Amino acid sequence: MSEHITAIKGFADLFSPESDTFTHMENVARDIFFRYGFTELRTPLLERTELFSRGIGTETDVVQKEMYTFPDRKGRSLTLRPEATAGVMRAYIESGRSGDAVTKLFTTGPMFRYERPQKGRMRQFHQINCECLGPAEPYADAEMITMAMRFLEALGIGNLTLQINSLGCPSCRPAYRDTLRRWLSTLDESALCEDCRRRMVTNPLRVLDCKVPSCKEHTADAPRILEHNCPDCAAHFDTVRRLLDAEKVPYVINHRLVRGLDYYTRTTFEIVSDAIGAQGTVAGGGRYDGLVAELGGGNVPGFGFACGMERLALLLPEREPVRPEFYVVVLTEAARETAYALTQTLRDAGFRGEMSFTPRSIKSAMRQAGRSRARFCLLIGEDELAAQSVMVKDMDSGEQTPVPLSEVAGRLN
Ligand code: HAM
Repeated sequence: MSEHITAIKGFADLFSPESDTFTHMENVARDIFFRYGFTELRTPLLERTELFSRGIGTETDVVQKEMYTFPDRKGRSLTLRPEATAGVMRAYIESGRSGDAVTKLFTTGPMFRYERPQKGRMRQFHQINCECLGPAEPYADAEMITMAMRFLEALGIGNLTLQINSLGCPSCRPAYRDTLRRWLSTLDESALCEDCRRRMVTNPLRVLDCKVPSCKEHTADAPRILEHNCPDCAAHFDTVRRLLDAEKVPYVINHRLVRGLDYYTRTTFEIVSDAIGAQGTVAGGGRYDGLVAELGGGNVPGFGFACGMERLALLLPEREPVRPEFYVVVLTEAARETAYALTQTLRDAGFRGEMSFTPRSIKSAMRQAGRSRARFCLLIGEDELAAQSVMVKDMDSGEQTPVPLSEVAGRLN
């Protein structure tokens, strides 16, 4: 016997009922997002590597360590998308859409990051991702954050913490970056991990995002970016807060929330659960006013977020499979074709059910019908065939009634 081939580490197969949970999340997302004016976009899983290095930032962990990058047969460097935003921006720019109109796009599907797999962290994972392009106003920030919270509420997920911060803009962030760099350089050499000692020079904000406990501890009193926002950024953030307050969307300010991707400006946010362990961030996003221009498009501001479906699934109860209406049991070879035709007729009439293809003894047939959880078992044996009827057994009450073949559909209602 040849050895069986297994799935790749960090890549999962989703059978029912897990796959039902994913479908349910997508359905709820569509219902909510359509109310806010979104339409669906499906982008390719593969893009040119440059899209991500330029879009996400060369100093990020995603670009430095986590991308699935390989040359195609002509030697061009391609990458499996580690996130959706860069691809959505590319599609937006390529489609010739203009920033004069508001464009709201959502996308769902698999993303790929070479991370260490653990609970809530996969190498292939799924996101529900939303991008709103055009408006620079804080109303868009508040609307998007509120929509994300409404979506999670509609799924029935509670006990979540919304964390927000503002990363400033190109006119105030460089000065903050210098302040932070100067502050970091006063720390003892051994206080920061090797990555952070490098980040301190190349992109000091990344140090605030480091998960290494000693880095977190030694930077607890680092200068706060909100206190270095310029007046425009501060006014923008105040309005976002006021709009969230008005809609009764509770939040906390997290001064260390810089996010793992480099394209953010001004408002950033994450939604965190403490019920699923270390990987508790179920959604994250923010404003990215320079990204479209960075990727060769116009000067179009944007705001977006993504939810991690695997993490949301951990917070949702298992879905009950839908109960089939019928299960057809053939007791004799001669009845098989009649049973087959009846099964098709019932499905064409909108009912859900199956038939056992192999004629069986009543006992084993009833066991099968029981396993199918169907509401009605439809038995066809010699007598039924002769009478052109079916024995309809109500699986809840146990009651049995002979019903003419032509009237079975009416009986199932
Ligand atoms: P992100 O924070 O990198 O943002 O990912 C968003 C969410 O995807 C995370 O909060 C988490 O729930 C989920 N996620 C990320 N990595 C994994 C993984 N390895 N396994 C399971 N779930 C994971 C973005 O991707 C941005 N593109 C969001 C955005 C959209 N910003 C603006 N627009």
